[in-house]
Amino acid sequence: KKIAIFASGNGSNAENIIQYFKNSNQGTVVAVFSNNSNAKVVEKAKNHQIPVVVFPKSELNAGFVLHELHRFQPDLIVLAGFLLKFPEFILKEYPKVINIHPALLPKYGGKGMYGNHVHQAVLENKEKETGITIHYVNEHYDEGEFIFQKAVNIEDCKSPEEIAQKVHELEQRYFPEIIEKLIPNI
Ligand code: GRF
Repeated sequence: KKIAIFASGNGSNAENIIQYFKNSNQGTVVAVFSNNSNAKVVEKAKNHQIPVVVFPKSELNAGFVLHELHRFQPDLIVLAGFLLKFPEFILKEYPKVINIHPALLPKYGGKGMYGNHVHQAVLENKEKETGITIHYVNEHYDEGEFIFQKAVNIEDCKSPEEIAQKVHELEQRYFPEIIEKLIPNI
């Protein structure tokens, strides 16, 4: 099956997924889409010889991104640190879209809840644990059906960065594997 990844930032999840599927017969990463030409993910994808589509924010809601998706025909779209709202008209044509969120949804989700904002909020609320949520994307931020959650204890964490590190470890460990398990069902 063909996987397209959407990412806006560092791309550690994107790279991990690209790497993982080089050794899996379940899927291949066919393209990386990014709204930020300076994002590290762009360079990382190119280093792996993966085609990259860079688009301005305005083009997500115009025709260009959909046109490019038609070119690659992905069976699954994976949002890995993608910071823009995924448009409904693209979802209608490509309903198999999943996202990873760096917290245990439904807590700490919604607009503005990304990156260290999430971990800061978790820390301020003195949560004993946080984690990751992998879920389907629908027309509302962070509200689609859950596919997988994993928690981690953070009682020893004193900064958002320390929490981020634990969450990243979970992401690296589980995200590609969950995608691989999902593929036969899509
Ligand atoms: C991850 O923490 C992911 O859960 C969130 O954005 C971050 C992306 O990190 N949605 P990276 O770009 O994969 O390094």
